[in-house]
Amino acid sequence: MEYGTKVGNAAKTRTQCIVTGVYEDHQLSATADLLDKASEGYIKKVLRRDDIQGKAGQSLVLHEVPGVNAPRILLVGLGKADTMDAARYLQVASTGIGALKATKARTALGCLLEVDVKGKSVYWKARRLVEQFEAGAYQFNEMRGKPPENGMVLETMDLQLPDKEDQDPAVTAIDDAAAVATGINAAKDLGNTPSNVCTPSYIAENAQELAVEYGSITTTVLEEKDMEKLGMGAFLAVSRGSDEPARLIIMEHKGGKPKDAPYVLVGKGITFDTGGISLKPAQTMYEMIYDMCGAASVFGTLQAVAERGLPINVVGVIAAAENMPSGKASRPGDIVKTMSGQTVEILNTDAEGRLVLCDALTYIGKYKPATVVDIATLTGACVIALGAHASGLYANDDGLAGELLAAGEETRDRAWRMPLWEDYQTQLKSAFADFANIGGREAGSITAACYLSRFTKNYRWAHLDIAGTAYKANGANKGATGRPVGLLTQYLMDRVPAE
Ligand code: BES
Ligand code: MN
Ligand code: ZN
Repeated sequence: MEYGTKVGNAAKTRTQCIVTGVYEDHQLSATADLLDKASEGYIKKVLRRDDIQGKAGQSLVLHEVPGVNAPRILLVGLGKADTMDAARYLQVASTGIGALKATKARTALGCLLEVDVKGKSVYWKARRLVEQFEAGAYQFNEMRGKPPENGMVLETMDLQLPDKEDQDPAVTAIDDAAAVATGINAAKDLGNTPSNVCTPSYIAENAQELAVEYGSITTTVLEEKDMEKLGMGAFLAVSRGSDEPARLIIMEHKGGKPKDAPYVLVGKGITFDTGGISLKPAQTMYEMIYDMCGAASVFGTLQAVAERGLPINVVGVIAAAENMPSGKASRPGDIVKTMSGQTVEILNTDAEGRLVLCDALTYIGKYKPATVVDIATLTGACVIALGAHASGLYANDDGLAGELLAAGEETRDRAWRMPLWEDYQTQLKSAFADFANIGGREAGSITAACYLSRFTKNYRWAHLDIAGTAYKANGANKGATGRPVGLLTQYLMDRVPAE
């Protein structure tokens, strides 16, 4: 979709639909009030009929309202004015786009910036509106034989500015949001692409195409023979059972000075996780097409950063492999040597994410990173702990943890910090190797992070367990969520040095 800004009298604006808010108990927003006056009380009359009470989540389309140029007015419920907050504002935006999609309007005027949200600027509101609209407009039709009928026809959305001075922040917000949305949509596309198409080589090809599309990006792809030379015994142990060769994909965005230390992102890219010889049960195995969503978020974030031309250096690394059972697959009890020199007893081949990540995390040490964040659908235990609302955050550095939490709060792509105490490390003890790849039933998300922490001692590091947040397995909104591209991109935008 295209976005712009507008000032002036909404009743006179040429557009196919005006989107405006009404509060609970029939209180009107500024634009709804203006339209009511232009129509000599039409809006209030509709509200008195009580088909819409102004509750959040409600919407109503009005046609041919007298005195108003636009053929449609979409009323969206705002809830109570005094309790309007960030979460509600996002819900309102998403209700608005949902209702707009059901109309045949090709252009719309969104009048939601005038809504007061506690502690939030016009920039924040415009940013969230565009991001929510883009999320609502997203569809994954790549795999269909024929395109669906009744697709959305909306092409242009102008944001009505409460004040002429809101122009600059609103335009910046639109540009920022459009770049982030491009990244989120790319992450969703990769995530939703099934594993018979989205293989490690497929992700590598996409990363190479990204470097063709953006001059700031250089992509390097390591093959299994390269990884053997580097001593990545854990990574290769995962890939061994699959006919699809593994790839270590490196995307470098050079936007800063050559000597600026890069921010490094490392994504788990298991294109399908059967569990390997420690085979998963059948019921929910299909969900494991999403086991590369960490990788997808790295890809999407690099695209957003390049799209916006951020003047910093960012390295995105994807550890891509398929976890399959076969005569060549690793067995429970196998002991392998990691690139770091530490040996690991693979007590469960289904704890494969940490095995590919640990070698990637050792590899990126060569960049002398400013910070490192890895992103992984790592544990079912994290889904039990935090559900679908927050990603699990672990860090060996309080400053970095705080910056990531703040970026998540700002974008409403939230994370929650979990402990990385020494106490938990003992659970990884192994009889014969330096340690095991699993830590037992208790605190499964924490012991997975503890495992990774043994490879990240030389830099400021954080780990995001996105098993609960990266995708919705079932229901109306089934599919990849694009999380945590929002959080990661915000974290990187916040690192851009002030002029
Ligand atoms: N990819 C899974 C984690 C997962 C589970 C993501 C459910 C999304 C939904 C991971 O590779 C895995 O299998 N983890 C095991 C670890 C266990 C064997 C220690 C798990 O969580 O059960
Ligand atoms: Mn697994
Ligand atoms: Zn997995």
